[in-house]
Amino acid sequence: MKEEYIARDDRYEGVTYRRAGRSGLLLPPLSLGFWHNFGTVGTLENMRQMMRTAFDHGITSFDLANNYGPPYGEAEKNCGRILAMDFAPYRDELIITSKAGYDMWPGPYGNWGSRKYLIASADQSLKRLGLDYVDIFYHHRPDPNTPLEETMDALLQIVQSGKAIYAGISNYNKEQTQAAVKYAKKIHLPLVVNQKRMSLLDQKTRREGTVEFCRKNGPGLVIFSPLAQGLLTGKYLKGVPEDSRVARDSRYLHRDDLTEEKRCVITALAQVAKERGQTLTEMSLAFLLHEPAVSSVIIGASSPSQITENLKALENTDFSEEELNKIYEITKGY
Ligand SMILES: NC(=O)c1ccc[n+]([C@@H]2O[C@H](COP(=O)([O-])OP(=O)(O)OC[C@H]3O[C@@H](n4cnc5c(N)ncnc54)[C@H](OP(=O)(O)O)[C@@H]3O)[C@@H](O)[C@H]2O)c1
Repeated sequence: MKEEYIARDDRYEGVTYRRAGRSGLLLPPLSLGFWHNFGTVGTLENMRQMMRTAFDHGITSFDLANNYGPPYGEAEKNCGRILAMDFAPYRDELIITSKAGYDMWPGPYGNWGSRKYLIASADQSLKRLGLDYVDIFYHHRPDPNTPLEETMDALLQIVQSGKAIYAGISNYNKEQTQAAVKYAKKIHLPLVVNQKRMSLLDQKTRREGTVEFCRKNGPGLVIFSPLAQGLLTGKYLKGVPEDSRVARDSRYLHRDDLTEEKRCVITALAQVAKERGQTLTEMSLAFLLHEPAVSSVIIGASSPSQITENLKALENTDFSEEELNKIYEITKGY
């Protein structure tokens, strides 16, 4: 790999950035996620190449969390190393995000949604990333035992102290999003995104009304696990490939996740994709981008070539009524 990184001049050509809710922030249609493949399991060279490839294609947004690894914190450390090596001249062209809300350190202050945890965690993330600020700091999941006001006040403090530019929530359902938006307005918290899991195999966010709520009121939806961790590439239809998430790191995706029923759904979806002139992977991402409430879709990748393959989804994100009906029929119940 050439040592000095100079980003491609044409990196923004043909990329249509999408507004995060009603805010001034524009996000790339695809963001790159650091949940997998940025911990000790991967090589720094591969991570570096993935970040370069993403940015060279207009992917300006890198999604992290305090506990991405393994071990916890390692993805932020590796991202920080590569930001320092390659991206220092481009800091103002990047949206770096982090989160706190899940288990991070032992004891009562390293989890959930207290002001104590969020503020300490934001400081730790900045140290690991080697940054003065992140662009979006998220509360990673709702906390049933901490008043929402305390969590939102903590996000406001993080923003007001200059450690984050915007705030986000993640895994909040419709009612929780509604309550967060209402309070954020009251305290003038720039709550610009809600990060939710959604894919052709998981449309709960749409069914529960969160998509519609966000379309009407903001915040922008940022989607995670858009390919159901790889199932929607079709790569598992003929068994588990040696070089795959299930084979390498099956903490969250298991061999038996591909049920016979899911196999039939995926095969039927692949046929619709073929008729559209797309791969199943491309159609799965395009389907999410078809929704105007979606500000960005975060892809995970284990190689630079997966990123360039997935970018092809952007070539056609329009769906006819007939195609949508077919897709909804096939994925009924998901
Ligand atoms: N807020 C939250 O609670 C939360 C939760 C989870 C994730 N996230 C965020 O969302 C990001 C994406 O989640 P995800 O990794 O589950 O997304 P995903 O896009 O559904 O799955 C990514 C995985 O699919 C496989 N893949 C992707 N493109 C492929 C291609 N073209 N061909 C073959 N295989 C391909 C790769 O796995 P292999 O090559 O290893 O098989 C890749 O690591 C995370 O990194 C994280 O930033 C947020």
